Amino acid sequence: MKLQLPLLLLPLLLPLSAATAAATAAAAADSKVATADALQATLDALTAAVDFVSNNIDSVNLDGAIGLRMAEGQTKALLAHYWSRLPQGAVARLAELHSRAGRAANRAVQSVRRRTPVYYANAGNMIREHFWDTFYPARPLPPAAVRAADKDKDFDEKFSDDCIKEFYGPDGKSPGCSVSERCWRGLVLPTGLTGYSLTHQLFYLMNGVQAGCLSNLTAQARAHPPAGTDGSLAGVFDNFCARIFVEASKLETAGFPKPDRDLFMEQVGLCGLAGYPEFARWRWLPVLLSWQRANGCFGEFPGELINPSNFDPGLYGNYKRRRKRAEMRMPEGCLSHRTSVAIAGLTAYCRRLVETLAN
Ligand SMILES: *[C@@H]1O[C@H](CO)[C@@H](O)[C@H](O)[C@H]1NC(C)=O
Repeated sequence: MKLQLPLLLLPLLLPLSAATAAATAAAAADSKVATADALQATLDALTAAVDFVSNNIDSVNLDGAIGLRMAEGQTKALLAHYWSRLPQGAVARLAELHSRAGRAANRAVQSVRRRTPVYYANAGNMIREHFWDTFYPARPLPPAAVRAADKDKDFDEKFSDDCIKEFYGPDGKSPGCSVSERCWRGLVLPTGLTGYSLTHQLFYLMNGVQAGCLSNLTAQARAHPPAGTDGSLAGVFDNFCARIFVEASKLETAGFPKPDRDLFMEQVGLCGLAGYPEFARWRWLPVLLSWQRANGCFGEFPGELINPSNFDPGLYGNYKRRRKRAEMRMPEGCLSHRTSVAIAGLTAYCRRLVETLAN
């Protein structure tokens, strides 16, 4: 008797599961099309942003060139990993974007070196060729252990850049990979920072990895792990990006306040490139795209008030000290840092979309 019931149900179940399979296949085909469309839109947006910067190269600051290098480096990495599994059209477009971003970045480096030689001497490694080619393996984001006391604090960009500079030897080029106690204590051990201070903790580590100092940072993370991390460098990355994700989600809940959109794009860009695809949330893509201007750039939002000190050329590297890295006005109400972080964010989407199409 017990066997009869399943046998009776079998004819009923078969057509049902066949229909389900067909629906699943159709949904998969639909989603392939949707993914390909989203990749098109993302590549269109990236190309327009890169072209805008390229056409205004003498109003780019050093930070503005980082996004170009990211787009150049990551498209190269994506092509290297996935070209054989992508539609030919996507491969051609990625290759085109790679060379456009690379050409623009090279010109931006010349321009920045000429206009801001001191700043360039201190931070030029961040925009040198191939610096953003590093392809961080994708990993899932763990839940964040957010401490109640989390709050933003003053963040000294000069200190951050000087610590990044330690990764390079006395000639400022070859890796020396020093990690002073002062820098580790100031930039890695704090687990209660927020905002740009927190994204710059991650930025410091990414710079170290990309400078060739992975083993040194790994040793530091084992010897002096930040509170709540497991003694691995990946654990520190996880900790930072899990907390950054909580912040990005809060910005969404708050309706993406205008003064925080620059930070939001920096969060998506840095953690996305650090290998956390969750940062390229599907529902955030139309939001990012909606912030782009018709001329391709990202600029001031209507009614937004930007702290004038963010533009102060008297500050180091014309950094605004507390809020983020240096901003610089570009023509037509466009902004250099903002366009750069937007390119970074869109590049993170590009990666997730390519990986979705290829897998
Ligand atoms: C960094 O690590 C490498 C390889 O382990 C080592 O040879 C080098 O001395 C380290 N640099 C510093 C400054 O500790």
